[in-house]
Amino acid sequence: MLKIVTIVGARPQFIKAATVSRVIRSRSDINEIIVHTGQHFDKNMSEIFFTDMDIPRPNYNLQIESLPHGAMTGRMLEGIEKILVKENPDWVLVYGDTNSTLAGALAASKLHIKLAHVEAGLRSYNMRSPEEVNRIITDRLSSLLFCPSDIAVKNLEKEGFNDLPISVLNVGDVMFDAVQYYSQRTRKPSWFDDIAISNEYALTTVHRAENTDDPERLKNIVIALNKIHESVPVVLPLHPRTRKILLNSGLEVHFHIIEPVGYLEMLFLLQRCKFVLTDSGGLQKEAYFLKKRCVILRDETEWTELVSHGVHKLAGAEVKAIFSAADFMHQEIDFSLPFYGDGKAAENIVDSLLHTLSYSNK
Ligand code: UD1
Ligand code: UDP
Repeated sequence: MLKIVTIVGARPQFIKAATVSRVIRSRSDINEIIVHTGQHFDKNMSEIFFTDMDIPRPNYNLQIESLPHGAMTGRMLEGIEKILVKENPDWVLVYGDTNSTLAGALAASKLHIKLAHVEAGLRSYNMRSPEEVNRIITDRLSSLLFCPSDIAVKNLEKEGFNDLPISVLNVGDVMFDAVQYYSQRTRKPSWFDDIAISNEYALTTVHRAENTDDPERLKNIVIALNKIHESVPVVLPLHPRTRKILLNSGLEVHFHIIEPVGYLEMLFLLQRCKFVLTDSGGLQKEAYFLKKRCVILRDETEWTELVSHGVHKLAGAEVKAIFSAADFMHQEIDFSLPFYGDGKAAENIVDSLLHTLSYSNK
Protein backbone atom coordinates (compact mmCIF):
# COMPACT_ATOMS: atom_id res chain seq x y z
CA MET A 1 0.00 0.00 0.00
CA LEU A 2 1.45 3.38 -1.10
CA LYS A 3 1.24 6.07 1.56
CA ILE A 4 0.99 9.75 0.60
CA VAL A 5 0.95 12.75 2.89
CA THR A 6 -0.75 15.69 1.18
CA ILE A 7 -0.03 19.19 2.48
CA VAL A 8 -2.65 21.91 1.93
CA GLY A 9 -3.41 25.20 3.66
CA ALA A 10 -4.80 27.82 1.27
CA ARG A 11 -8.01 28.06 -0.77
CA PRO A 12 -6.57 27.19 -4.19
CA GLN A 13 -4.89 24.12 -2.74
CA PHE A 14 -8.15 22.67 -1.46
CA ILE A 15 -9.54 23.02 -4.99
CA LYS A 16 -6.51 21.39 -6.62
CA ALA A 17 -6.26 18.62 -4.03
CA ALA A 18 -9.98 17.79 -4.34
CA THR A 19 -9.49 16.29 -7.80
CA VAL A 20 -6.41 14.25 -6.92
CA SER A 21 -7.91 13.08 -3.66
CA ARG A 22 -11.00 11.80 -5.48
CA VAL A 23 -8.83 9.68 -7.79
CA ILE A 24 -6.79 8.39 -4.83
CA ARG A 25 -9.99 7.26 -3.12
CA SER A 26 -10.98 5.33 -6.22
CA ARG A 27 -7.78 3.23 -5.96
CA SER A 28 -7.42 0.45 -3.43
CA ASP A 29 -3.62 0.59 -3.29
CA ILE A 30 -3.05 4.13 -1.92
CA ASN A 31 -3.61 5.66 1.48
CA GLU A 32 -3.73 9.47 1.67
CA ILE A 33 -3.14 11.42 4.88
CA ILE A 34 -4.23 15.06 4.56
CA VAL A 35 -2.46 17.78 6.55
CA HIS A 36 -4.11 21.23 6.71
CA THR A 37 -1.63 23.82 7.93
CA GLY A 38 -4.42 26.23 8.89
CA GLN A 39 -3.08 29.01 6.66
CA HIS A 40 -6.64 29.79 5.51
CA PHE A 41 -9.13 29.36 8.29
CA ASP A 42 -12.36 31.38 7.82
CA LYS A 43 -15.34 29.13 7.16
CA ASN A 44 -15.68 30.37 3.57
CA MET A 45 -11.93 30.23 2.92
CA SER A 46 -11.52 26.65 4.15
CA GLU A 47 -14.34 24.51 5.54
CA ILE A 48 -16.79 25.27 2.72
CA PHE A 49 -14.39 23.69 0.20
CA PHE A 50 -14.05 20.45 2.17
CA THR A 51 -17.83 20.20 2.51
CA ASP A 52 -18.91 21.28 -0.99
CA MET A 53 -16.14 19.52 -2.89
CA ASP A 54 -16.34 16.32 -0.88
CA ILE A 55 -12.73 16.42 0.28
CA PRO A 56 -11.98 14.09 3.20
CA ARG A 57 -11.57 15.93 6.53
CA PRO A 58 -7.88 16.59 7.18
CA ASN A 59 -6.20 14.00 9.39
CA TYR A 60 -4.21 16.84 10.97
CA ASN A 61 -4.86 20.59 11.27
CA LEU A 62 -1.89 22.60 12.50
CA GLN A 63 -3.99 25.78 12.92
CA ILE A 64 -1.10 28.08 12.00
CA GLU A 65 -2.68 31.30 10.81
CA SER A 66 -2.16 35.05 10.34
CA LEU A 67 1.60 35.19 10.88
CA PRO A 68 4.39 36.91 8.94
CA HIS A 69 6.10 34.74 6.31
CA GLY A 70 9.04 33.55 8.42
CA ALA A 71 7.06 32.71 11.53
CA MET A 72 4.32 31.05 9.49
CA THR A 73 6.67 28.91 7.40
CA GLY A 74 8.85 28.06 10.40
CA ARG A 75 5.97 26.89 12.56
CA MET A 76 4.53 24.90 9.67
CA LEU A 77 7.91 23.24 9.06
CA GLU A 78 8.08 22.21 12.70
CA GLY A 79 4.53 20.84 12.72
CA ILE A 80 4.80 19.01 9.39
CA GLU A 81 8.14 17.46 10.36
CA LYS A 82 6.56 15.83 13.44
CA ILE A 83 3.73 14.41 11.32
CA LEU A 84 6.10 13.07 8.67
CA VAL A 85 8.27 11.36 11.28
CA LYS A 86 5.14 9.70 12.69
CA GLU A 87 3.51 8.77 9.37
CA ASN A 88 6.68 7.91 7.39
CA PRO A 89 5.01 8.18 3.95
CA ASP A 90 6.35 7.10 0.55
CA TRP A 91 5.53 10.53 -0.88
CA VAL A 92 4.80 14.04 0.27
CA LEU A 93 2.51 15.81 -2.18
CA VAL A 94 2.40 19.62 -2.34
CA TYR A 95 0.42 22.01 -4.53
CA GLY A 96 1.23 25.40 -5.99
CA ASP A 97 3.29 28.12 -4.38
CA THR A 98 2.09 29.08 -0.91
CA ASN A 99 3.99 29.12 2.37
CA SER A 100 2.28 25.81 3.22
CA THR A 101 3.84 24.32 0.08
CA LEU A 102 7.31 25.61 0.96
CA ALA A 103 7.06 24.27 4.51
CA GLY A 104 5.94 20.85 3.23
CA ALA A 105 8.79 20.78 0.71
CA LEU A 106 11.42 21.67 3.31
CA ALA A 107 10.10 19.16 5.85
CA ALA A 108 10.03 16.30 3.31
CA SER A 109 13.43 17.11 1.90
CA LYS A 110 15.17 17.26 5.27
CA LEU A 111 13.70 13.88 6.21
CA HIS A 112 14.71 12.41 2.79
CA ILE A 113 11.10 11.66 1.95
CA LYS A 114 10.28 11.87 -1.75
CA LEU A 115 8.48 15.07 -2.70
CA ALA A 116 6.08 15.56 -5.60
CA HIS A 117 5.00 19.04 -6.68
CA VAL A 118 1.72 19.67 -8.48
CA GLU A 119 1.73 22.85 -10.62
CA ALA A 120 5.49 22.74 -11.04
CA GLY A 121 7.56 24.86 -13.42
CA LEU A 122 5.55 28.06 -13.29
CA ARG A 123 7.56 31.25 -13.20
CA SER A 124 6.69 34.94 -13.04
CA TYR A 125 10.39 35.91 -12.93
CA ASN A 126 9.49 38.41 -10.21
CA MET A 127 11.64 37.48 -7.24
CA ARG A 128 9.84 40.01 -5.02
CA SER A 129 6.75 37.84 -5.17
CA PRO A 130 6.58 35.35 -2.26
CA GLU A 131 5.01 32.77 -4.57
CA GLU A 132 8.01 32.85 -6.96
CA VAL A 133 10.43 32.11 -4.12
CA ASN A 134 8.22 29.30 -2.81
CA ARG A 135 7.81 27.60 -6.17
CA ILE A 136 11.49 27.78 -7.19
CA ILE A 137 12.62 26.16 -3.94
CA THR A 138 9.84 23.56 -4.05
CA ASP A 139 10.67 22.57 -7.64
CA ARG A 140 14.34 22.16 -6.79
CA LEU A 141 13.64 19.95 -3.75
CA SER A 142 11.19 17.64 -5.53
CA SER A 143 11.75 14.21 -7.08
CA LEU A 144 8.70 14.42 -9.28
CA LEU A 145 7.43 17.59 -10.94
CA PHE A 146 3.90 17.65 -12.30
CA CYS A 147 3.74 20.51 -14.81
CA PRO A 148 0.37 21.82 -15.99
CA SER A 149 1.53 23.09 -19.41
CA ASP A 150 4.26 23.00 -22.06
CA ILE A 151 5.51 26.40 -20.97
CA ALA A 152 6.06 25.09 -17.44
CA VAL A 153 8.17 22.21 -18.82
CA LYS A 154 10.18 24.66 -20.91
CA ASN A 155 10.77 26.93 -17.92
CA LEU A 156 12.32 24.00 -16.07
CA GLU A 157 14.43 23.03 -19.10
CA LYS A 158 15.82 26.58 -19.19
CA GLU A 159 16.84 26.22 -15.54
CA GLY A 160 18.73 22.99 -16.27
CA PHE A 161 16.27 20.54 -14.74
CA ASN A 162 17.03 18.08 -17.57
CA ASP A 163 20.46 17.56 -16.01
CA LEU A 164 19.08 16.83 -12.54
CA PRO A 165 17.75 13.50 -11.23
CA ILE A 166 14.26 14.97 -11.14
CA SER A 167 11.41 13.65 -13.23
CA VAL A 168 9.49 16.37 -15.09
CA LEU A 169 6.08 15.43 -16.53
CA ASN A 170 3.43 17.49 -18.30
CA VAL A 171 0.30 15.93 -16.79
CA GLY A 172 -2.11 18.78 -17.55
CA ASP A 173 -3.76 21.08 -15.05
CA VAL A 174 -5.74 19.71 -12.11
CA MET A 175 -7.79 22.93 -12.17
CA PHE A 176 -9.11 21.91 -15.58
CA ASP A 177 -10.19 18.58 -14.07
CA ALA A 178 -11.90 20.50 -11.25
CA VAL A 179 -13.80 22.81 -13.59
CA GLN A 180 -15.01 19.86 -15.66
CA TYR A 181 -16.22 17.88 -12.65
CA TYR A 182 -17.77 20.67 -10.57
CA SER A 183 -19.31 22.65 -13.46
CA GLN A 184 -22.14 20.13 -13.33
CA ARG A 185 -22.68 20.82 -9.62
CA THR A 186 -22.71 24.62 -9.31
CA ARG A 187 -24.81 26.54 -6.78
CA LYS A 188 -26.51 29.93 -7.10
CA PRO A 189 -25.43 32.31 -4.31
CA SER A 190 -28.38 33.32 -2.10
CA TRP A 191 -27.84 37.05 -2.87
CA PHE A 192 -27.56 36.59 -6.65
CA ASP A 193 -31.12 37.56 -7.58
CA ASP A 194 -31.16 40.43 -5.05
CA ILE A 195 -28.45 42.44 -6.77
CA ALA A 196 -30.12 41.88 -10.15
CA ILE A 197 -26.93 41.55 -12.13
CA SER A 198 -28.26 38.99 -14.69
CA ASN A 199 -25.36 37.97 -16.93
CA GLU A 200 -23.92 41.38 -17.63
CA TYR A 201 -21.44 41.66 -14.79
CA ALA A 202 -17.69 41.56 -14.44
CA LEU A 203 -16.44 39.02 -11.88
CA THR A 204 -13.45 40.33 -9.95
CA THR A 205 -11.00 39.16 -7.30
CA VAL A 206 -8.05 40.97 -5.73
CA HIS A 207 -5.74 39.55 -3.08
CA ARG A 208 -2.09 39.66 -4.26
CA ALA A 209 0.32 41.26 -1.81
CA GLU A 210 1.70 43.46 -4.61
CA ASN A 211 -1.77 45.04 -4.96
CA THR A 212 -3.11 44.96 -1.40
CA ASP A 213 0.07 46.17 0.27
CA ASP A 214 0.74 49.04 -2.15
CA PRO A 215 -1.74 51.88 -1.42
CA GLU A 216 -1.23 53.45 -4.85
CA ARG A 217 -1.93 50.22 -6.73
CA LEU A 218 -4.96 49.40 -4.57
CA LYS A 219 -6.31 52.91 -5.08
CA ASN A 220 -5.88 52.67 -8.86
CA ILE A 221 -7.63 49.29 -8.97
CA VAL A 222 -10.58 50.61 -6.94
CA ILE A 223 -10.86 53.72 -9.15
CA ALA A 224 -10.80 51.57 -12.29
CA LEU A 225 -13.41 49.14 -10.90
CA ASN A 226 -15.66 52.07 -9.92
CA LYS A 227 -15.39 53.39 -13.46
CA ILE A 228 -16.09 50.00 -15.11
CA HIS A 229 -19.07 49.54 -12.76
CA GLU A 230 -20.72 52.57 -14.39
CA SER A 231 -21.28 50.49 -17.54
CA VAL A 232 -20.85 46.83 -16.46
CA PRO A 233 -21.73 45.91 -12.84
CA VAL A 234 -18.64 44.71 -10.98
CA VAL A 235 -19.02 41.87 -8.45
CA LEU A 236 -16.10 41.29 -6.10
CA PRO A 237 -16.05 38.34 -3.66
CA LEU A 238 -13.48 39.87 -1.38
CA HIS A 239 -10.52 37.99 0.09
CA PRO A 240 -10.17 38.69 3.87
CA ARG A 241 -6.68 40.07 3.34
CA THR A 242 -8.00 42.75 0.99
CA ARG A 243 -11.12 43.38 3.08
CA LYS A 244 -9.04 44.35 6.11
CA ILE A 245 -6.87 46.73 4.09
CA LEU A 246 -9.71 48.21 2.03
CA LEU A 247 -11.83 48.91 5.14
CA ASN A 248 -9.05 51.03 6.60
CA SER A 249 -8.10 52.72 3.34
CA GLY A 250 -10.85 55.32 3.19
CA LEU A 251 -11.33 54.48 -0.50
CA GLU A 252 -14.83 54.92 -1.89
CA VAL A 253 -16.26 51.74 -3.41
CA HIS A 254 -19.26 51.86 -5.75
CA PHE A 255 -19.31 48.23 -6.90
CA HIS A 256 -20.71 45.06 -5.27
CA ILE A 257 -18.47 43.65 -2.54
CA ILE A 258 -19.53 40.25 -1.22
CA GLU A 259 -18.02 37.66 1.12
CA PRO A 260 -15.73 35.07 -0.51
CA VAL A 261 -17.88 32.29 -1.96
CA GLY A 262 -17.40 28.53 -2.11
CA TYR A 263 -16.15 26.90 -5.30
CA LEU A 264 -19.60 25.77 -6.49
CA GLU A 265 -20.88 29.34 -6.22
CA MET A 266 -17.73 30.71 -7.83
CA LEU A 267 -18.26 28.49 -10.86
CA PHE A 268 -21.90 29.61 -11.03
CA LEU A 269 -20.72 33.24 -11.08
CA LEU A 270 -18.00 32.53 -13.64
CA GLN A 271 -20.32 30.69 -16.00
CA ARG A 272 -22.61 33.74 -16.18
CA CYS A 273 -20.25 36.69 -16.09
CA LYS A 274 -19.37 38.89 -19.04
CA PHE A 275 -15.65 38.90 -18.28
CA VAL A 276 -13.19 38.62 -15.40
CA LEU A 277 -10.79 41.04 -13.73
CA THR A 278 -8.36 39.38 -11.34
CA ASP A 279 -4.89 39.10 -9.87
CA SER A 280 -5.56 35.45 -8.97
CA GLY A 281 -3.54 32.74 -10.68
CA GLY A 282 -6.24 30.08 -10.65
CA LEU A 283 -9.04 32.34 -11.79
CA GLN A 284 -7.16 33.33 -14.96
CA LYS A 285 -7.29 29.72 -16.12
CA GLU A 286 -10.81 29.02 -14.95
CA ALA A 287 -11.93 32.02 -16.97
CA TYR A 288 -10.32 30.45 -20.03
CA PHE A 289 -11.86 27.02 -19.35
CA LEU A 290 -15.29 28.65 -19.17
CA LYS A 291 -14.66 30.76 -22.27
CA LYS A 292 -14.38 34.11 -20.53
CA ARG A 293 -11.76 36.71 -21.18
CA CYS A 294 -9.81 38.25 -18.36
CA VAL A 295 -8.06 41.49 -17.41
CA ILE A 296 -5.05 40.49 -15.31
CA LEU A 297 -4.46 43.00 -12.53
CA ARG A 298 -0.74 42.26 -12.39
CA ASP A 299 2.42 43.30 -14.22
CA GLU A 300 3.27 39.72 -15.17
CA THR A 301 1.64 36.30 -15.15
CA GLU A 302 2.81 32.71 -14.88
CA TRP A 303 0.12 31.72 -17.40
CA THR A 304 1.88 33.46 -20.28
CA GLU A 305 0.20 31.40 -23.02
CA LEU A 306 -3.11 33.11 -22.24
CA VAL A 307 -1.57 36.52 -22.85
CA SER A 308 0.62 35.63 -25.84
CA HIS A 309 -2.44 34.17 -27.62
CA GLY A 310 -4.36 37.40 -26.95
CA VAL A 311 -7.06 35.78 -24.79
CA HIS A 312 -6.30 37.66 -21.58
CA LYS A 313 -4.75 41.09 -21.16
CA LEU A 314 -2.13 42.17 -18.65
CA ALA A 315 -3.16 45.54 -17.26
CA GLY A 316 -1.12 45.91 -14.06
CA ALA A 317 -2.59 48.49 -11.70
CA GLU A 318 -2.94 51.56 -13.92
CA VAL A 319 -6.45 53.05 -14.16
CA LYS A 320 -6.24 53.71 -17.90
CA ALA A 321 -4.75 50.31 -18.71
CA ILE A 322 -7.40 48.44 -16.70
CA PHE A 323 -10.21 50.46 -18.20
CA SER A 324 -9.08 50.02 -21.79
CA ALA A 325 -8.33 46.29 -21.28
CA ALA A 326 -11.89 45.88 -19.98
CA ASP A 327 -13.17 47.42 -23.20
CA PHE A 328 -11.19 44.87 -25.20
CA MET A 329 -12.93 42.01 -23.32
CA HIS A 330 -16.09 42.43 -25.39
CA GLN A 331 -14.38 41.07 -28.54
CA GLU A 332 -14.91 37.41 -29.49
CA ILE A 333 -11.89 35.07 -29.28
CA ASP A 334 -10.92 31.41 -29.86
CA PHE A 335 -10.98 29.40 -26.62
CA SER A 336 -10.25 26.00 -28.16
CA LEU A 337 -6.47 25.76 -27.71
CA PRO A 338 -5.73 22.91 -25.28
CA PHE A 339 -3.04 24.58 -23.19
CA TYR A 340 -3.75 22.61 -20.02
CA GLY A 341 -4.26 18.96 -20.95
CA ASP A 342 -7.36 16.86 -21.39
CA GLY A 343 -8.93 16.90 -17.93
CA LYS A 344 -7.09 13.77 -16.77
CA ALA A 345 -4.33 15.50 -14.80
CA ALA A 346 -5.34 13.97 -11.47
CA GLU A 347 -5.31 10.44 -12.91
CA ASN A 348 -1.93 11.07 -14.52
CA ILE A 349 -0.57 12.28 -11.19
CA VAL A 350 -1.84 9.32 -9.21
CA ASP A 351 -0.56 6.84 -11.82
CA SER A 352 2.87 8.46 -11.72
CA LEU A 353 3.02 8.41 -7.94
CA LEU A 354 2.20 4.72 -7.98
CA HIS A 355 4.71 3.84 -10.67
CA THR A 356 7.58 6.19 -9.82
CA LEU A 357 8.95 4.56 -6.71
CA SER A 358 12.65 4.58 -7.51
CA TYR A 359 13.44 8.28 -7.97
CA SER A 360 15.73 9.97 -5.55
CA ASN A 361 16.38 13.68 -5.13
CA LYS A 362 19.98 13.08 -4.17
C1 UD1 B 1 -1.97 33.08 0.20
C2 UD1 B 1 -0.77 32.71 -0.65
C3 UD1 B 1 -1.00 33.15 -2.08
C4 UD1 B 1 -2.30 32.60 -2.62
C5 UD1 B 1 -3.45 32.97 -1.67
C6 UD1 B 1 -4.69 32.28 -2.12
C7 UD1 B 1 1.41 32.75 0.47
C8 UD1 B 1 2.67 33.51 0.62
N1 UD1 B 1 0.43 33.39 -0.18
O1 UD1 B 1 -2.07 34.50 0.20
O2 UD1 B 1 0.06 32.62 -2.88
O3 UD1 B 1 -2.55 33.17 -3.87
O4 UD1 B 1 -3.13 32.50 -0.35
O5 UD1 B 1 -5.83 32.89 -1.62
O6 UD1 B 1 1.32 31.64 0.90
N2 UD1 B 1 -6.95 35.84 6.34
C9 UD1 B 1 -8.11 35.74 7.08
N3 UD1 B 1 -8.81 34.58 6.96
C10 UD1 B 1 -8.45 33.54 6.19
C11 UD1 B 1 -7.27 33.67 5.45
C12 UD1 B 1 -6.52 34.82 5.53
O7 UD1 B 1 -8.48 36.63 7.81
O8 UD1 B 1 -9.15 32.52 6.14
C13 UD1 B 1 -6.18 37.10 6.45
C14 UD1 B 1 -5.23 37.08 7.64
O9 UD1 B 1 -5.16 38.36 8.18
C15 UD1 B 1 -3.89 36.79 7.00
C16 UD1 B 1 -4.04 37.48 5.64
O10 UD1 B 1 -5.39 37.30 5.28
O11 UD1 B 1 -2.82 37.27 7.76
C17 UD1 B 1 -3.15 36.92 4.56
O12 UD1 B 1 -3.31 35.50 4.50
P1 UD1 B 1 -2.08 34.60 4.00
O13 UD1 B 1 -2.51 33.19 3.99
O14 UD1 B 1 -0.83 34.95 4.73
O15 UD1 B 1 -1.85 35.12 2.52
P2 UD1 B 1 -2.86 35.26 1.33
O16 UD1 B 1 -2.90 36.68 0.93
O17 UD1 B 1 -4.14 34.58 1.65
N1 UDP C 1 -12.39 31.18 -5.51
C1 UDP C 1 -13.49 30.78 -4.79
N2 UDP C 1 -14.21 31.74 -4.13
C2 UDP C 1 -13.89 33.05 -4.14
C3 UDP C 1 -12.75 33.45 -4.89
C4 UDP C 1 -12.01 32.49 -5.54
O1 UDP C 1 -13.82 29.60 -4.75
O2 UDP C 1 -14.60 33.85 -3.51
C5 UDP C 1 -11.60 30.16 -6.20
C6 UDP C 1 -11.32 30.43 -7.66
O3 UDP C 1 -12.42 30.04 -8.45
C7 UDP C 1 -10.09 29.60 -7.90
C8 UDP C 1 -9.35 29.73 -6.58
O4 UDP C 1 -10.31 30.14 -5.62
O5 UDP C 1 -10.42 28.23 -8.08
C9 UDP C 1 -8.26 30.73 -6.72
O6 UDP C 1 -7.73 30.99 -5.48
P1 UDP C 1 -7.04 32.35 -5.11
O7 UDP C 1 -7.41 33.39 -6.10
O8 UDP C 1 -7.32 32.60 -3.69
O9 UDP C 1 -5.48 31.98 -5.22
P2 UDP C 1 -4.46 31.90 -6.44
O10 UDP C 1 -5.04 31.05 -7.49
O11 UDP C 1 -4.18 33.30 -6.87
O12 UDP C 1 -3.24 31.32 -5.79
